[in-house]
Amino acid sequence: MSGDGSKRLPEGHYFVDTITESQIPELMVLYAKEFWTHQRTIDKVKIMLQNTDVVLGLIDPEGHLIAFARALTDYIYRATIYDVIVHPSRRGQGLGKMIVDELLSHPKLKDVEQFVLFCLPDMMPFYEDFGFQHSTKLQLMMYYPNKPESN
Ligand SMILES: CC(C)(COP(=O)(O)OP(=O)(O)OC[C@H]1O[C@@H](n2cnc3c(N)ncnc32)[C@H](O)[C@@H]1OP(=O)(O)O)[C@@H](O)C(=O)NCCC(=O)NCCS
Repeated sequence: MSGDGSKRLPEGHYFVDTITESQIPELMVLYAKEFWTHQRTIDKVKIMLQNTDVVLGLIDPEGHLIAFARALTDYIYRATIYDVIVHPSRRGQGLGKMIVDELLSHPKLKDVEQFVLFCLPDMMPFYEDFGFQHSTKLQLMMYYPNKPESN
């Protein structure tokens, strides 16, 4: 699978829209290093992958998963982007920009009115580069901890 973002990919790299059984441990490696994903378990991650509307993986020439991003969506009003992660050894090479570009230009998401995501303030410049805007309305994210271990 490929879209606009793949045009600038380094040689031998390509996007996939499913994470194979053998790539799931590599996704767990990406998840293990980030504060909001490090507690995730492989059993629940498999359920998440089965039920995520749009999954994107970036694969290197050796077949390893080196970046990941995903979106949940109604395909018309909103798509919420989650888990944008590039392997630490491959950061600063433009791959984060490419995977977000690929998600924003994904054919399945072409009719979506608005993409939404949550990020820490220091990530704002990264997303503003794509055209994301910080909502100036006084809105707070509220959450209901349906399961005690939820994050
Ligand atoms: C954020 C992340 C995905 C960026 O991936 P990356 O491959 O290193 O980013 P790129 O090389 O494509 O950088 C693109 C641009 O964003 C900038 N940028 C990268 N990381 C940034 C950060 N943490 N804060 C602000 N700007 C950042 C780069 O300087 C670059 O700017 P330039 O085009 O002017 O040179 C990566 O650092 C990562 O996986 N971080 C840990 C997980 C995370 O925090 N994800 C975001 C959750 S909201």
